[in-house]
Amino acid sequence: MEKKVVYITGGSKGIGKGIAQYLLIHGYKVAISSRHLKSAQEAAESLNGNKDDILAIQSDVCKADDEKNAIRKITDTWGRLDVLIANAGVGHFAPIEELTVEQWNEVINTNVTGVFHSVKACVEQLKKTKGYIITIASLAGTYFSEKGTAYNASKFAMVGFSQALMLDLRQHDVKVTTIMPGSVTSYFNNHIPSVEDGWKIQPEDIGEIVYDLLKMNPRVLPSKIEVRPAKPPVKR
Ligand SMILES: NC(=O)c1ccc[n+]([C@@H]2O[C@H](COP(=O)([O-])OP(=O)(O)OC[C@H]3O[C@@H](n4cnc5c(N)ncnc54)[C@H](OP(=O)(O)O)[C@@H]3O)[C@@H](O)[C@H]2O)c1
Repeated sequence: MEKKVVYITGGSKGIGKGIAQYLLIHGYKVAISSRHLKSAQEAAESLNGNKDDILAIQSDVCKADDEKNAIRKITDTWGRLDVLIANAGVGHFAPIEELTVEQWNEVINTNVTGVFHSVKACVEQLKKTKGYIITIASLAGTYFSEKGTAYNASKFAMVGFSQALMLDLRQHDVKVTTIMPGSVTSYFNNHIPSVEDGWKIQPEDIGEIVYDLLKMNPRVLPSKIEVRPAKPPVKR
C-alpha cells in the first residue's frame, strides 16, 4: 500500500521533530519545515528512517506564499498529501506593560495566522485524500495564566479556529483534531532540555497520540484532546 504523506510545520526540533520520528518509524512519509532550510535539513538528517521518506522544507508559516510553496514541493515530490500537523509555534511571556508590540505580533502571526496559512495551503489536497488536520494548541488554550496575554490569546484562538474548522471539513471526510498539551520537553521559549525534564511529556509521546488518531476508525473523531504529565513534581 502507498505510504501516507504527512506535513509537519516546525519540525526542526521539539514536539514537531518528535512527531516526525514516531511517524517515520511507523511507515509514513514525513515533510518537516523550519524558517531556515539548514535547520530543517539538519533535523531531517538526524531522524532515523528511510531517507527517501523524509523531506526538509524552508517555510515561514507567517508567509502565505511560503506555505503554498511548501505544499507544492510535497505534492511534486510524493504526489499526495494526507496529513497536516500545524505545530509551529512561539511564546512570549511578560506582564502587559512589558510585552512589546513586536512580541504580540510574532505570537499572533505565528500561532494563529500561521495555522490559517498552513490550512489554506493544504485543504484542497486533503479533500482529495480524505485526510487529517491536527493542530498543536496547548492547555493555554483553555486555562489562562499571569504573563500569558499573548500566548493565551493565540491558543484560545487556535482552539476556536480548529473546532470551527472541524465542523467545516468533516462533511468532506477531512478530520480535524486539536491536541492541547501541558508541559512537554522541548526548546520552547529558549528552554534547554535536561534530565530535570524527565517528568514532562516527551515529544515522542505526542507522536504516539498523533499515530493513534491517524489509525482510528473513520467513523470516530476525537475533536479536542487535553494531555498533561501524569505526575508533575509537587510545588513547595
Ligand atoms: N513545549 C511545551 O510545553 C508545549 C506545550 C503545549 C503546546 N506547545 C506547542 O507546541 C508547538 C511546538 O513547540 P515546541 O514546544 O516543540 O517548541 P520548540 O522546541 O521551540 O519548536 C518550535 C518549532 O516551531 C518552529 N517555528 C517557529 N516559528 C516558526 C515559523 N514562523 N515558521 C515555521 N516554523 C516555525 C521552529 O522552527 P525554527 O526555529 O527552526 O524555524 C521549531 O521547529 C508550539 O505550537 C507550542 O505552542 C508546546
